[in-house]
Amino acid sequence: MKRIPEPELMDDLEQARAYAEADFEESNSLFVRLFQEHFPDEKPKLFLDLGCGPADITIRLARIYPDAVFHAVDGSEAMLLFAKKGILDASLGKRIKLIKAFIPEDPLPVRHYDALISNSLLHHLKSPHALWKTITEHCRPEAPVLVMDLLRPESPEKAREIVNRYSASEPEILRRDFFNSLCASYTIDEVEKQLGLFGLEGLKVKQVSDRHLAVWGRL
Ligand SMILES: C[S@@+](CC[C@H](N)C(=O)[O-])C[C@H]1O[C@@H](n2cnc3c(N)ncnc32)[C@H](O)[C@@H]1O
Repeated sequence: MKRIPEPELMDDLEQARAYAEADFEESNSLFVRLFQEHFPDEKPKLFLDLGCGPADITIRLARIYPDAVFHAVDGSEAMLLFAKKGILDASLGKRIKLIKAFIPEDPLPVRHYDALISNSLLHHLKSPHALWKTITEHCRPEAPVLVMDLLRPESPEKAREIVNRYSASEPEILRRDFFNSLCASYTIDEVEKQLGLFGLEGLKVKQVSDRHLAVWGRL
């Protein structure tokens, strides 16, 4: 099916609450596992998490890398409210700094990060170049990069099936957003083309679940 874009920021309070309270155990632990598998010996000191949302992945990684500091960036005030609560509950306020910024326009506090992570941001962006541009500009050479996102299904019917399989008991607002996100996401071919345009062909793209793709490698 043809891609149907969705709004860029998740800045409605109820939308952010539904997302922050949803069960993303399977996909968020997959993200963390992929980072560890692809970069087993890496101990980055400073991570950049783009589109951190409620920061669940940031918190999981902060527990695994106890010497690391994280800059967690999101353009939505509502999402950052939930992220702040999660970080305080996890007593990680000293190591996870929340930054309200809209990429790629807003400046980030550090020029070059040791590692870059981003989950489920790509399909939200008005232009995917916002992500690839930020990655090329803000990573130190050889920095590990892991981007995971939804993978666009063949049809709206397949998207509906996925929503029913994984979010049957979630609130309607989350089911609506999940459906819209699936329709807004990219295919592997499309992501490979985006990488080519930014000279990022060195990064690999692969399907990693029935509804996710991952992009990883070193800059
Ligand atoms: C689907 S959520 C993913 C949150 C988190 N990474 C996770 O995996 O749970 C996407 C987030 O990206 C944020 N976002 C979208 N476009 C953005 C932009 N241009 N700059 C900064 N944040 C953006 C949204 O506000 C939202 O919180």
